[in-house]
Amino acid sequence: HKTGLAMTMPKDRDEAPSPDISELRGKVMQCKLCAELARTRNKVVFGSGDLQAKLVFVGEAPGADEDLQGLPFVGRAGQLLTKIIEAMGMTRDQVFICNVLKCRPPNNRPPAPQEVINCRPYLKQQLEIIKPKVIVALGNHAVKALLQTEQGISALRGSFREYEGIPVMCTYHPA
Ligand code: URA
Repeated sequence: HKTGLAMTMPKDRDEAPSPDISELRGKVMQCKLCAELARTRNKVVFGSGDLQAKLVFVGEAPGADEDLQGLPFVGRAGQLLTKIIEAMGMTRDQVFICNVLKCRPPNNRPPAPQEVINCRPYLKQQLEIIKPKVIVALGNHAVKALLQTEQGISALRGSFREYEGIPVMCTYHPA
């Protein structure tokens, strides 16, 4: 929070979520910018975790399990991501996990460029609200959407880049 008052306040986990995030969530949950995705999805996957997290993981898009549950990274790749987070000595609810696309592309096809263009502002606003200290970009699509680079993940893996002043660690997608 940018106001002087907010800066003097201790961070409290019980604090009501920022009205900005509920507004954003409401908008995302009803989004119809991608006609095909809006028609074929079961649930929009906004993201989950701590809205005050210092660390945000960004994946590609919901898969079948995520689409059914409305939660990010709950399928096979998600189980590995959960293990990775726990191996770091943290839990999923201490970080924030989301995707570039909030809706599942049918048959898990890769996100279409126009879908990334449509959905990117939501990711941008999430990151503006959460203001993490570090972002972890999981795989090519996250790297591309955040850094707008054509450099592949193998070249970028393990190195920090920057998104709006926030360090971005690029690494392989757990899938
Ligand atoms: N793969 C992703 O990129 N995101 C998910 O939420 C699940 C699998």
